[in-house]
Amino acid sequence: MARTSRIPGFYKLSIDERLRIVKGFANLTDEEIKLLNNFGNLGATRANVMIENVIGGMTYPFAVAVNFLINGREYLVPMVLEEPSVVAAASNAARVMRRDGGIKAKASEPIMIGQIQVLNVPNPHYAKMAILEHKDEILDLANKQDPILVKLGGGAKDLEARVINSRIGPMLIIHLLVNVKDAMGANAVNTMCEAVAPLVEKITRGKVLLRILSNLAVRRIVRAWVKVYKDDIGGEDIVDKIVAASAFAEADPYRAVTHNKGIMNGIIAVALATAQDHRAIEAGAHAYAARDGVYRPLSVWEKDDEGNLVGSLEMPLAVGVVGGATKTHPVAKIALKILGVKTAKELAEIMGAVGLAQNFAALRALATVGIQKGHMKLHARNIAIMAGAEGELIDKVAEIMIKEGRISYSRAVEIIKELKKN
Ligand code: MEV
Repeated sequence: MARTSRIPGFYKLSIDERLRIVKGFANLTDEEIKLLNNFGNLGATRANVMIENVIGGMTYPFAVAVNFLINGREYLVPMVLEEPSVVAAASNAARVMRRDGGIKAKASEPIMIGQIQVLNVPNPHYAKMAILEHKDEILDLANKQDPILVKLGGGAKDLEARVINSRIGPMLIIHLLVNVKDAMGANAVNTMCEAVAPLVEKITRGKVLLRILSNLAVRRIVRAWVKVYKDDIGGEDIVDKIVAASAFAEADPYRAVTHNKGIMNGIIAVALATAQDHRAIEAGAHAYAARDGVYRPLSVWEKDDEGNLVGSLEMPLAVGVVGGATKTHPVAKIALKILGVKTAKELAEIMGAVGLAQNFAALRALATVGIQKGHMKLHARNIAIMAGAEGELIDKVAEIMIKEGRISYSRAVEIIKELKKN
């Protein structure tokens, strides 16, 4: 039978039936199927309702970064990711950031923006005024969709309208500004935007097309800042080098992207551990970095008048502690318990602080010994495992490769053979 990816009703099948089809399609072995058909600490039933067409689970390591003191509170920070050295780097950075109450961080009110696109408005500038005139009516209707959120002090708070010129002519864009409290907010905001669309059409005499949250969460900002004492990091020379590394990112988008990637290493690891929408966080962060037309770093490192290093970070961060997978993934629930956070604001502050610490760790390594040295050990262990080393052999093979300065799959295979012979 010809191999085809056209499989009507695939979503209706059981996990076992889907697996059977994929097995045939990709020539998977029984062992590979067994490995896939493992749902770890999520469980098959939960996994199967979380997304569609589920055929298995995939486990990433869950670690905790230590030493974090943020706003005077002690935190163990759960991190889930595949990259070696990140957790160690975050922990090391946090160790030199414990003076004066640790890293400071402050999140704004959790205001998300919902966009309503109105087309074919006969007189868009006049219609904009009409929308503003009917603001209370529109906000009331939006708030009727979520009485619980309103009771908690959240809900649609304000509204903006703009006429933009596009390739297909002018359009009226309305922004609903919604305080989403402890949720990431996408569901609440999208529901409100959809609900007010008919009223918007009536007021503007236009046609509403898109009704959706914007991931450029410029009204949901976290700021984090820290002073790192020069004596804790090897003196003023190191401070100067980190400042020069930061200046490089401030002046060059090629470097700024990598600088920000280092920040996101920490932020996304916490986002994964707590089951956040990390795509939304990434999209918002990078758009914010480019908000004035040039891509810039989300953090800046300077030297204070005593020669110490001071760092600051500012970025949008839409995270939640209710709704989404944060409450349905059993491990995300445990991650939040380890953090001891009760509000989305506190979670955002922790994540901002972790991003800043992670960034410092990367710059410090890059400006001194380079990052390969730190990477080496875990990298060598990974290669050793890939080459078939098990148990005690893993560290032995890794050590030999590091000593020789030759870390490669083929060398690992050779060493395993030699060690087994002996
Ligand atoms: C690697 O995952 C992250 C770094 O490239 C960040 C940076 O260059 O600042 C080390």
